Amino acid sequence: MIDKNKKILITGASGFIGSNLTELLIDKGFKLKILVHYNSFNSLGNLKFIDSEKLKKIEIIRGDINDYNFIEEITKDINIIFHLAALIAIPYSYNAPSSYFKTNIIGTNNILEAAKKNKVKKIIHTSTSEVYGDAQYSRINENHPICAQSPYSASKIGADKVAESYFNSFNLPVTTARPFNCYGPRQSLRSIIPSIISQALFNKGRIKVGNTYPKRDFTYVEDTCNALISICGKKNNEGKTYNIGSGKSISIDELIKTIGNVLNIKIKLTKDRKRKRIASSEVDNLLCDNKFIKKDIKWIPKISLNEGIKLTSKWIINQKEYKTDKFIL
Ligand SMILES: NC(=O)c1ccc[n+]([C@@H]2O[C@H](COP(=O)([O-])OP(=O)(O)OC[C@H]3O[C@@H](n4cnc5c(N)ncnc54)[C@H](O)[C@@H]3O)[C@@H](O)[C@H]2O)c1
Repeated sequence: MIDKNKKILITGASGFIGSNLTELLIDKGFKLKILVHYNSFNSLGNLKFIDSEKLKKIEIIRGDINDYNFIEEITKDINIIFHLAALIAIPYSYNAPSSYFKTNIIGTNNILEAAKKNKVKKIIHTSTSEVYGDAQYSRINENHPICAQSPYSASKIGADKVAESYFNSFNLPVTTARPFNCYGPRQSLRSIIPSIISQALFNKGRIKVGNTYPKRDFTYVEDTCNALISICGKKNNEGKTYNIGSGKSISIDELIKTIGNVLNIKIKLTKDRKRKRIASSEVDNLLCDNKFIKKDIKWIPKISLNEGIKLTSKWIINQKEYKTDKFIL
């Protein structure tokens, strides 16, 4: 259990997972400071979906994790950090790898260095299942070799190694959480489940996707956030890594059929070359071995894929900007 007197910083709070984690922690009554990436529109990103009365209870800071002095300053009164800020879109990482290396590796280094300097008591560093590359055996446990199949993956491997080195070299209390694919309300239309749902709902069931053979293990965002909170609340797990996943994988083909069935929409599928990942960069199968997290912190996912698709669709149907007949690269 996390002590309610501790002050928590969330980076990446305006993002998909970060905004859901922020709302969950506000609802649980925690003291929060959240970091929103500075932008000239004064946009709060996904935080706009949270009731303004709730947001009044927390401190919102705008800035950039690439600025060490700024990060050192804002972590002075912080006891716990959930570090989620990152560049995450794999396709863009092919075009602009160095910005991924900068934000994801150096940005993470800034967070950890500031945490060390300010004696932060616990840091949850968010990794990704993409660090494993293609499964060399399945299910993928935390000891599976890592392989950088995309610049995004390389940048997250780099970040994980920085975290590992800060634990080993400086005894920094950092724990790594490695979510497999996460989905739910507020996720970008670039991601597979919102993309399929919005095309099915708003484009008369006509769906364009890239490769449909890869298999992924999907977890509903509330389950992922609860896993992050439980990992943080567990004592003596510094230096450890936890996979977060449902333990079930599904191909994109099967996923499209499932979404069609849940929404009761007849799907007409076309493949789009522009959306395909380069063959050697595509990761065919990511299936989570979640034995460690189940045993160590007693976490189990509560929302089934069908239920999660219903909840996500119910949210998407009310969002103006998701009403598109196009899909986003
Ligand atoms: N969504 C998934 O399925 C998934 C799966 C595994 C791991 N993850 C990891 O979870 C974390 C959150 O992912 P998400 O899906 O919520 O992504 P997201 O893109 O919705 O959120 C990332 C946030 O980081 C912020 N950010 C980017 N650069 C920044 C900078 N320089 N300074 C400050 N903030 C910056 C962005 O503004 C954004 O709000 C990431 O670390 C990602 O690698 C996500």
